[in-house]
Amino acid sequence: MAAPPVPPWRFAVAPMMDRTDRHFRWFFRQLSRGALLYTPMVAAAAIVAGRAGAALAYDAIEQPLALQLGGNDPRLLAAAARAGADAGFVEIDLNCGCPSPAAAHSQWGARLMDQPQRVAECVAAMVASCGVDVTVKHRLGIAGRDDTASLHAFVDAVHAAGAARVIVHARAAVLGGLGPAANRRVPPLRAAEVHALARARPQLPILYNGGVRSLAEACAHLSGPDATAGVMVGRAAYDDPWAFRELDRVVFAREPPAGDRAEVARAVIERARAWQRDGGDPHAVTRHCLGLWHGVPGARRARATVAALALRPGFDAIADAVAVLREP
Ligand SMILES: Cc1cc2nc3c(=O)[nH]c(=O)nc-3n(C[C@H](O)[C@H](O)[C@H](O)COP(=O)(O)O)c2cc1C
Repeated sequence: MAAPPVPPWRFAVAPMMDRTDRHFRWFFRQLSRGALLYTPMVAAAAIVAGRAGAALAYDAIEQPLALQLGGNDPRLLAAAARAGADAGFVEIDLNCGCPSPAAAHSQWGARLMDQPQRVAECVAAMVASCGVDVTVKHRLGIAGRDDTASLHAFVDAVHAAGAARVIVHARAAVLGGLGPAANRRVPPLRAAEVHALARARPQLPILYNGGVRSLAEACAHLSGPDATAGVMVGRAAYDDPWAFRELDRVVFAREPPAGDRAEVARAVIERARAWQRDGGDPHAVTRHCLGLWHGVPGARRARATVAALALRPGFDAIADAVAVLREP
């Protein structure tokens, strides 16, 4: 009997504001067809008001693609989730981990970890309206109220409300005093607590998130007695994408699409040219591939060449660029 297909959420690239836009997602698809990709958080209210057209746009190759919503109003979230499902997103996630002062002030993002019943109402409304899987991305808790019992109560509430999976960033959120970037660095990583949760709640698939720096580290979260069902990687996938070039083979048992870095870079440049022909800014496309040369000799030159391309209308430097790109 053939093995069941590996679900895309076995390995996901994390939602990242200003990073995981359509151009980055298209770029990452040159390296992996299997991974689940995400939009950055989009406010449910913006979708419902018809102000999120650009944030919802994508190319077919970006699928499987999930939409992450921000908000705390069940009716708005239900309407936005429905719009997302209608637009073709395969999963809708509710952000319960964002520690930004704006989110905390508006009582959404990580602030919602204090309000499991409210989150359960939101999830139930989204599930009832959209017909695709609804998930919740959250943290271990809010600092000071990040004990195991509270975490389990939160997860149980969203599971009972119909969440298909949860994604747990293995840190508490410090609200007030620490900005979002520091909140991804300062609160200690507590990976063991996510794995203990996975063991305690075997009926709910849990994705581990936080501090994964390589494909090998990602795979380590997926094996052993305390394995999580999936893993989500953010900064490492953006900063050093080539480190994940074997992802499809290792995680999804399929042939990876990429040949070499130069081939990927040429594809990005072609896309940037097409984007520019349609009136777009080519830098919006090329900026996301600069991590391709992470740690490689000649990286600085290759990066500078690709970055410069974006500033030279007509791409008359394309031949030079490709010559440099062959170097690594
Ligand atoms: C620039 C940036 C923007 C982010 N934006 C979002 C976001 O929109 N929604 C969200 O849930 N998390 C966001 N995150 C958090 C990541 O999804 C992830 O949880 C975090 O970076 C930890 O994973 P990592 O250590 O693999 O990067 C962002 C992270 C970064 C670095």
